[in-house]
Amino acid sequence: MGGDGIVHEYPDTTWADDGPTRGVEAVVESGHVLAFPHLAFGLEHGEERFLDPRWADGKAKNVSLRWPAGELRGAAGAPADLVALQGMIARYADRSEAFALRLFPHYRGKLRRGNSSFRPTGIAGRARSWRQDDTRLHIDAFPSNPMQGTRLLRVFCNVNPRGEPRRWRVGESFEAHAARYLGSIAPPWPGSAWLLAALGITKRRRTGYDHLMLQLHDRAKADLEFQRSSPQQRVDFAPGTTWVCFSDQVLHAAMGGQHMMEQTFYLDAGDLADPSSAPLAVLERLTGQPLLA
Ligand SMILES: [Fe+2]
Repeated sequence: MGGDGIVHEYPDTTWADDGPTRGVEAVVESGHVLAFPHLAFGLEHGEERFLDPRWADGKAKNVSLRWPAGELRGAAGAPADLVALQGMIARYADRSEAFALRLFPHYRGKLRRGNSSFRPTGIAGRARSWRQDDTRLHIDAFPSNPMQGTRLLRVFCNVNPRGEPRRWRVGESFEAHAARYLGSIAPPWPGSAWLLAALGITKRRRTGYDHLMLQLHDRAKADLEFQRSSPQQRVDFAPGTTWVCFSDQVLHAAMGGQHMMEQTFYLDAGDLADPSSAPLAVLERLTGQPLLA
């Protein structure tokens, strides 16, 4: 694993509260990936059968749980199997939540659980368009789901049974990335945020912040010269490795691998240990404008 630069490695071997690493908010908030090469998500007896793309229903690229109810989406199989699959993913959600609150005690009572997902399919050939092609470096931003400044914290674990790493590229700092494209991003059309929400295209209002984040996502993915020659490093996450980052801040690309667990958490930017590290604060500083209007 390329342990230098963006990725910081830690020796933890347990998800439980007595593990050694805690209070590392400043590391994750400054745009690093925290990697735990000895922190496997242990499968229980019989769960190995789920490491097979046949459990994905073919429409979704992953199997997921939606909270608070924890209902299973994107899976196909017999009812008893689906109950067991739901249990496996829910256990990952519980482990990763306890783990995140140990790493980042400042977020206690503030971190909100988002979708939990299991990705039994490979990366190759998955993208339907350049905008959805996650093998290109990008920050996470979604057209239909404006975050309005809320942070996206993700806990990943490679559960591949055949030794295959999850292969990522990681890139330049968020501030450098924003500075690269901000000058060439036009403002949204007047009334467009209202219209997108009124038509149900966005779940809530697309703020100035969301407009810029989406533009950064799209500009980066469309810019093949940026993809080829911008500062970047390859990182292989071997099976049994867990890693954590703010995926709305860390430039990342998923180049290969199969069988991964992923838990999303939401955190208001104001609840960071250092709110000035948030993409919202960086973009407001660089543009000189309030962006939640
Ligand atoms: Fe992503």
